[in-house]
Amino acid sequence: MTSDPARDDVVLKLTGVAAGYGRIQALGGIDLEVRRGQIVTLLGANGAGKTTTLKTISGLVRATAGTIVLEGRDIATMKPHEIARLGVVHVPEGRRILRGLTVRENLEVAAFAVRDGALRRSRLEQVFAQFPILHARQGQDGSLLSGGEQQMLAIGRALMQGPKLLLLDEPSMGLAPKLVLETMKIVKRLNRDEGTTILLVEQNARLALRLADYGYVLEGGMIRMRNAAAQLREDRSIVQAYLGGG
Ligand SMILES: Nc1ncnc2c1ncn2[C@@H]1O[C@H](COP(=O)(O)OP(=O)(O)OP(=O)(O)O)[C@@H](O)[C@H]1O
Ligand SMILES: [Mg+2]
Repeated sequence: MTSDPARDDVVLKLTGVAAGYGRIQALGGIDLEVRRGQIVTLLGANGAGKTTTLKTISGLVRATAGTIVLEGRDIATMKPHEIARLGVVHVPEGRRILRGLTVRENLEVAAFAVRDGALRRSRLEQVFAQFPILHARQGQDGSLLSGGEQQMLAIGRALMQGPKLLLLDEPSMGLAPKLVLETMKIVKRLNRDEGTTILLVEQNARLALRLADYGYVLEGGMIRMRNAAAQLREDRSIVQAYLGGG
């Protein structure tokens, strides 16, 4: 049988995924697909289940139903570190910079699982090239960076791991408008220049839909809408529900 290239292009496929916290069901059976080289954005109001979706993919929250297939392999029952080793790198909400470690150490520690020292060094150089401010501040305690710089460090830490699929949870949260734009440009650049596949959760739906190829709208733990980002941008109901203020 010949393989279907369109099918092979799917890096991640969630089918009927449910998850929650004790008795609280946060995801009620969602289907979602991310194709290689795409930016897919996940939109929705507070509490819709966006973070839970990312956590379920990276194994931090256990799926109670459904399958999560990464490049043909079901990862739904794997442990977070096993999933990370397959190239799924999760940048959580709120950055998670390690206090007491310098900027450089924060980056190096992120790549601890990368055995090849030359590869680690070349990635560090790449991160410094992408984020000159991190290079300039490499000897400073990571927790002393500004919010925007910490976000760059968080993304830099993810890049040190050589992600196949990058899960970004609200990278622009708490940043000034100028830095929001800057962060989004970085996301776009990663996608375009490195070919990194990205699943992006973003409050700023207008911006996210400008970057993304495809979008999903979550509501109450269910997928309410899915379409090409260009299509979603034109959709009145989306504009009213999520893009109103922006
Ligand atoms: N650790 C937890 N324990 C219990 N309930 C939780 C926990 N984390 C999230 N929830 C609940 O699960 C649901 C989905 O939350 P989730 O964090 O996925 O939403 P979100 O779409 O990321 O929202 P936000 O835009 O505010 O970040 C919410 O009802 C939330 O209250
Ligand atoms: Mg969230």
